[in-house]
Amino acid sequence: MIKKCLFPAAGYGTRFLPATKAMPKEMLPIVNKPLIQYGVEEAMEAGMTNIGMVTGRGKRALEDHFDVSYELEHQISGTSKESYLADIRNIIDNCSFSYTRQTEMKGLGHAILTGENLIGREPFGVILADDLCVGENDSVLMQMANIYAKYRCSIVAIEEVPHEEVYKYGVIAGSELEDGVYVVSDMVEKPSPEDAPSNLAIIGRYILTPDLFDVIRDTPPGRNGEIQITDALQTQATKNMVLAYRFKGQRFDCGSVEGFVKATNYFYERWKEKEGA
Ligand code: UTP
Repeated sequence: MIKKCLFPAAGYGTRFLPATKAMPKEMLPIVNKPLIQYGVEEAMEAGMTNIGMVTGRGKRALEDHFDVSYELEHQISGTSKESYLADIRNIIDNCSFSYTRQTEMKGLGHAILTGENLIGREPFGVILADDLCVGENDSVLMQMANIYAKYRCSIVAIEEVPHEEVYKYGVIAGSELEDGVYVVSDMVEKPSPEDAPSNLAIIGRYILTPDLFDVIRDTPPGRNGEIQITDALQTQATKNMVLAYRFKGQRFDCGSVEGFVKATNYFYERWKEKEGA
C-alpha cells in the first residue's frame, strides 16, 4: 500500500572519520554489503520500491551504487563472480531511485522536509540506514506497514534501551493500545535520564503521513539548534494520533563504532553459513 521510502543520508558521519572523509557513511560495508543496501532491501521487502534519497556533498557514490556498472558486469559475466552482483542487480531491476540534496545540515526534520518533493502527498516510510535492523520474521518496516494498514497514522519504531542511554535518542511516553503498540502522549529529543518519560527510544524507522511536512515547516529549531523530527511528531501527536511500535527483531546502531562491530560479527556468522565456510 505504501510505495515510497525516504532515506535521509546527508549527515557527515563524523564518528567514523577519517573513513567518512571522502566516502558516505552509508557506503561503509557490513561484511560485503554497504549499509544503504541493507536499508533498501528492507524497503523493497515492505513493498516500497520507489526510493528517495536525501543526500549532500560527497555522497555521489550512493547514486553510483544503485546504477548499472556495464564494464564491471561485462568483465565478470559468465564467471563464478557474477553471483556477487545478483542482489544489487535485483534491486536495480525492481526499484526506482530519485535524489535530492540537503544543502545545509539543519537536522533530521529538515532532511525529511527536503525530501518532500520526492514524496508528494502520500504516506511514506523512512529508513536511517545507519540503524541496521533484522526483523524476527518480517522486516521491521514490513511490520510497521502492517500496523499502518490498520491505524493509518504516523508510526515510529521504538526499542527499550538502558535508562542511562536515553540521552542519545528521542524518547516517548504513551499508553499501550495493543501488544507492543503505544499511543504517543509525549516525545522528547535526547532527554537527560532524570527528565526522560520512559526508556522507550525511537530508532531509525518511521512511517509518516504527508501532513507532517506542514508541521515540520512550522517547527522551530530544537535540541542542538536542529529541526527535530521528534518535535514535529510531538505536535502531530497532539492533533492526531501518532503510534510507537516496539518492533520484533534486533537493531544495530551502525552510526557508532561499537554497534558497527557487533553488526559485522553478526553478519559475518550469517555470511559463513551461506558460503559454507
Ligand atoms: P546522525 O545524528 O547519526 O548524524 O544522523 P550523522 O552526521 O550521520 O553522524 P555523526 O553523528 O556525525 O557521526 C541521523 C541520520 O539522519 C541523517 C543522517 O544522514 C543519519 O542517517 N541526517 C541528519 C540528515 O540527513 N541531515 C541532517 O541534517 C541530520
